[in-house]
Amino acid sequence: MSYAVRRPLAVAVRLALSAALAAAVTVALFVTGRHQTPDYTAQLFGQSGVSAIRLKSWMATGVLGLAVVQLGLALWMYGRLPGLRQAPRGVPRAHRIGGVILFAVTVPVAVQCMRAYGVQTASTRVMVHSIAGCFFYGAFAAKVLLVRSRRLPGWVLPLAGGTVITVIAVFWYVSALWYFNGNLP
Ligand code: HEM
Repeated sequence: MSYAVRRPLAVAVRLALSAALAAAVTVALFVTGRHQTPDYTAQLFGQSGVSAIRLKSWMATGVLGLAVVQLGLALWMYGRLPGLRQAPRGVPRAHRIGGVILFAVTVPVAVQCMRAYGVQTASTRVMVHSIAGCFFYGAFAAKVLLVRSRRLPGWVLPLAGGTVITVIAVFWYVSALWYFNGNLP
């Protein structure tokens, strides 16, 4: 079979696998969180209660800031930043390191969310946050799988990266911004 005939199938399989991975990770976290017995005393770096929420809100804001930096670096790599020509070699590396740091910052926050609350659906805001939190890890896993695949259509990575950044903006909006606006649980 010629390469030209095989390629669309290989691409479709890779895309289907990525979507399945995203769904599997999201559902696994959601189900785990639904079965979690909340422990409202759960700590984050020695902080609990309102102090933990404050720390989580700042860490989530750091994650949002890193996401904006990642978006800028990606646009640079795609030659979409006005006034800037081809991205130097360090830009893809910075984007990769930035992604690892971003992910690492989310983990202790999400672990505290899971231990303290699990997945909750009592209000729309909390439900949106819980689902976005779970979906973030699904979308991130799919993005990492896709970024390692060659010969994908050009729209795939921008769509995957854009999805991850959008999810971050959503969970930040309904949690950290909610806290900074003076609301407390
Ligand atoms: C595993 C996925 C996650 C689940 C199931 C989850 C669930 C929750 C729940 C149920 C709350 C309590 C909301 C309330 O009662 O007011 C909460 C709070 C919070 N979460 Fe998450 N979360 C997850 C991931 C994340 C991530 C990745 C971040 C940021 C990096 C984050 C940041 C926060 C912040 C800042 C709060 C405090 C503000 C608030 O109470 O809404 N969460 N989370």
